[in-house]
Amino acid sequence: MQEIIQQLEDRRAVARAGGGQRRIDSQHKRGKLTARERIDLLLDTDSFEEYDMFVEHRCTDFGMEGSKIPGDGVVTGWGTVNGRTVFVFAKDFTVFGGSLSETHARKITKIQDMALQNRAPCIGLFDAGGARIQEGVAALGGYGEVFLRNVLASGVIPQISVIMGPCAGGDVYSPAMTDFIFMVKDTSYMFVTGPDVVKTVTNEEVTAEQLGGASVHTTKSSIADNAYDNDVEALLQLRRFIDFLPSSNLAAVPELPTSDDAERVEDSLDTLIPENPNQPYDIKELILKIVDEGDFFEIQESFARNIVVGFGRMEGRTVGVIANQPMVLAGVLDSDASRKAARFVRFCDCFGIPLVTLVDVPGFLPGTAQEYGGLIKHGAKLLFAYSEATVPKVTVITRKAYGGAYDVMSSKHIRGDVNYAWPSAEIAVMGPKGAAEILYRSELGNAEQIQKRIKEYEDRFANPFVAAERGYIDEVILPRNTRRRVTRALNMLRNKKTENPWKKHDNIPL
Ligand code: HXC
Repeated sequence: MQEIIQQLEDRRAVARAGGGQRRIDSQHKRGKLTARERIDLLLDTDSFEEYDMFVEHRCTDFGMEGSKIPGDGVVTGWGTVNGRTVFVFAKDFTVFGGSLSETHARKITKIQDMALQNRAPCIGLFDAGGARIQEGVAALGGYGEVFLRNVLASGVIPQISVIMGPCAGGDVYSPAMTDFIFMVKDTSYMFVTGPDVVKTVTNEEVTAEQLGGASVHTTKSSIADNAYDNDVEALLQLRRFIDFLPSSNLAAVPELPTSDDAERVEDSLDTLIPENPNQPYDIKELILKIVDEGDFFEIQESFARNIVVGFGRMEGRTVGVIANQPMVLAGVLDSDASRKAARFVRFCDCFGIPLVTLVDVPGFLPGTAQEYGGLIKHGAKLLFAYSEATVPKVTVITRKAYGGAYDVMSSKHIRGDVNYAWPSAEIAVMGPKGAAEILYRSELGNAEQIQKRIKEYEDRFANPFVAAERGYIDEVILPRNTRRRVTRALNMLRNKKTENPWKKHDNIPL
């Protein structure tokens, strides 16, 4: 028996060595951890149960029969993050560049199936060169199997991808179908085709960083949700992130004990809104002051900064926060902001996470650039997402809620459950100046008269009371009591049950 046990240990040691010390050293030299080191950091100590450690490829082309490495370029299994089960696969770049073979794909699909069956998040750590070139169509077939499972699991369990090295081909399409993508700055890249192919086809010369680095995908393409300085930070932030997420669409949101009093009064909020309605203020101050312990996990912080989205907790339970940001473009809704917020709202709705919407929006951004870029369709995405959402929805209008953007931002008319306004709220078709200039165009030459008209419009509409008189606003609340009022509303809504009419699926304006 001792001999057999020793054999097992020896075989395990070979598998754990992956592509060998030389390639491990090269991985470290580039500032990257190995697949197993990453899993160790991500999961609770000693919680990892590895599967399929001895799986090898079956390729016999290009001399591959003589080059087999147990594990075949991906480490798979399950473990816990702060006590909660997650399934994980980590590409091992030291083995055939983490490229995907038929057997490598089988290892991943086994984990995807187990995650779905057992209703737990599935996390992929990517550092790979795409389809194993020597395997041809067998590798492409393998990707197809992975992609299909990404889609079937979408909206059932959270799927998260972390890009921790160069990723090309199939290794970008699978992450693209997951819920969140995080990247590591300077060492990770995502592109369908790399710089060499780009040069051949388009004659364009770009570096990997310019083509698909973290800076590109977090600020320009919005493919990635966040970027971190190194592997360690990315994995520690991922652990923090998982604490916010329910395990599946059937599980309740996680509850973390908190010492932050739900009744906490924040006097400073009474002076958050500047006297001048055109002066900006930082909406993040409001978010940090109302969520538990100021703990807010922002998503897509560097993209479409005119809207802020992310996760916080109220009385220990996760909420999704969506807030116009007056500091950037006056908080206007444009195509990018609408798409960003719509995707976030839909994620929260899939997983039963209540929505807290903070509104200060002067409308949709006018201009040819926006109209040609499809503002109508992108704006409609957000309107659609809020309208179909059946999770509890609590809205607070702090200042402006103008025009179509008033309707879109979780208004009462699209099933906002509890809609509050601060006394500083202005709910109108447009700002007083614009309104007076349209209504009294013939008086435009008379500055004094126009000022009078603006004042008239302000007095009539630049307040929350016209909407409150109609019941579109449930209550005008004191800013300092916002945390208390929102928490109480969320408590009241805990057993909310609303269903949309049966359909195969909706047809959101993609
Ligand atoms: C087999 C691969 C491989 C691949 C890398 N390797 N990619 N082996 N199939 N796709 C191997 C290399 O031979 C090398 O082996 C080791 O991995 C490390 O690769 P290097 O090139 O030395 O590393 P680096 O310079 O860091 O470059 C990494 C890279 C580059 C950018 C990923 O290797 C690369 O461009 N690979 C090809 C990418 C690609 O075009 N993939 C196919 C995409 S098509 P040794 O033995 O020397 O360590 C696709 C189809 C699916 O994925 C599409 C579905 C929609």
